[in-house]
Amino acid sequence: MTYEEHAYQGGLVPPPGCPAHRAGGGPGGGELLRLFGPEAEADPAGFYEKLRAEHGEVAPVLLHGDLPAWLVLGYSANLTAMRTPSRFSRDSRRWTEFRQGRVAPDSPVLPVIAWQPTCSFVDGEEHRRLRTAVTDGLNRFDRRGMRRFVTRFSDQLIAGFGDSGRVDLVSQFAEHLPMLVMTQLLGMPEEYGPRLVEAARDLVKGTETAVASNEYVVESLRRTVERKRSDPGQDLVTWLIEHESGLNEEEVLEHLRSVLLAANETTSNLISETLKMVLTDSRFRAHLSGGQMTLPDALDQVLWDSPPFMLVPGRWATGDTELGGRAIKAGDMLLLGVAAGNADPVVRPDLDTPLFGNRSHLAFGSGPHECPGQEIGRAIAESGIDILLTRLPDLQLSVEESELVWRGNWMSRHLTELPARFTPRSELYPQQAAGAAGAAAGAGTGTVGGAGALASTPSAAPAAPAAPGATVPGPRSAVRPPLPPAPPVVPPQRRGWWSTLLARLRG
Ligand code: HEM
Repeated sequence: MTYEEHAYQGGLVPPPGCPAHRAGGGPGGGELLRLFGPEAEADPAGFYEKLRAEHGEVAPVLLHGDLPAWLVLGYSANLTAMRTPSRFSRDSRRWTEFRQGRVAPDSPVLPVIAWQPTCSFVDGEEHRRLRTAVTDGLNRFDRRGMRRFVTRFSDQLIAGFGDSGRVDLVSQFAEHLPMLVMTQLLGMPEEYGPRLVEAARDLVKGTETAVASNEYVVESLRRTVERKRSDPGQDLVTWLIEHESGLNEEEVLEHLRSVLLAANETTSNLISETLKMVLTDSRFRAHLSGGQMTLPDALDQVLWDSPPFMLVPGRWATGDTELGGRAIKAGDMLLLGVAAGNADPVVRPDLDTPLFGNRSHLAFGSGPHECPGQEIGRAIAESGIDILLTRLPDLQLSVEESELVWRGNWMSRHLTELPARFTPRSELYPQQAAGAAGAAAGAGTGTVGGAGALASTPSAAPAAPAAPGATVPGPRSAVRPPLPPAPPVVPPQRRGWWSTLLARLRG
């Protein structure tokens, strides 16, 4: 019996652990592949090509808990799924696996696919109402203003390691810059920045402290919203509160949370991968300095070859339909294979051909849900890298390229470190050395308490969650003013984020 027959005959889907999932279950008689675990995560590109060779444009795969899904591999099939919401909805409550109670409460897919009241999970008129509030707000930031923020925070981060001549560009630069800038766009006190970086990093790692980290993020946002109601400003929090779409309290908070997290993880990844390309690929360094290739070109090449989201979960079929020659049943889940679509031989017969100026990659999605923050993400990455290369012109990798290591999961993969060296430049920003301590010392040591040194607006910050591996603050923390006393992160009577989420799922 084929996978489809077994899975969908009479609407029945085999329970997790069913042998049909393991042997002879694929349409070609082959074994169905799991989208998680060592094989898929060690070499995602090779894994996608193996699937493409066996199944073509759309492949059946298994998610954690052996939940079935369709991975869209073809460029054009991805565009169809993204641009046809009448057939492929964003509403995860349609998923057959949810409806039939087969998703375990602790399933690692839940944090990304459990339905939330945000523009990411709705279609049609409701999507337009919610998304307009976000896009109207994001569009009010001009590029020059963004560049000012990026310059300030890049300089602070560089000052934190500039006198040492050595840096890990992932943990001391790329993982910090986007969140520091985003706190400014949201109108949050600067002191929240470094702690939010730690909480956001912890949250996506899915560790045992992930729920506490998420609550820290939500509580920081809740306090900012409360403050902005009585003291509005020129920031996204104020604009969401005041928008004519009339977002309620929960919608404001959920959109702020998803903007913050969507922006942070993706932009950090884009910065790391672009820096890696600039430092390891001699063509790029030569082209950049010779003016043949611009930094925006390098960013686009990375968005084609190493998109920050390798796949986007997901879309859910509104009725029985067809995609890439596959019979898709109502309620099936589609995973949009952004990285696989970008490497589709139909659109890129030779992956080595440079794609200067070509922005038709799938990295930001397409259709009604296309990323509304792409200009901001690009601006943070481009300005940040530009400032780094300008301040440290002899920056170079301090390990062999072959020693670089990526850590991955089913949705994305990240460089764990990008060690580099340069001529020490302590003379550049003596006035910022203290200001950099909070961000850069925290970056270097994994410290979560490095908030005070960046603070300019006195305001109570919620207690930071303990990140795994958090260290005692290093010597630089001595220059930080003590944090104000913190109230409990989540008042006892308030329902936890996770239980709210599960309640929603269960309808
Ligand atoms: C460079 C980094 C970024 C990448 C690669 C990226 C990628 C994406 C992708 C693939 C989607 C899903 C599209 C779909 O479902 O079809 C998305 C949605 C979204 N992104 Fe981004 N993003 C980035 C930066 C940002 C930034 C900086 C912000 C906010 C300032 C942001 C806010 C959002 C929001 C709110 C959505 C949901 C839109 C909707 O469902 O209507 N993103 N992004």
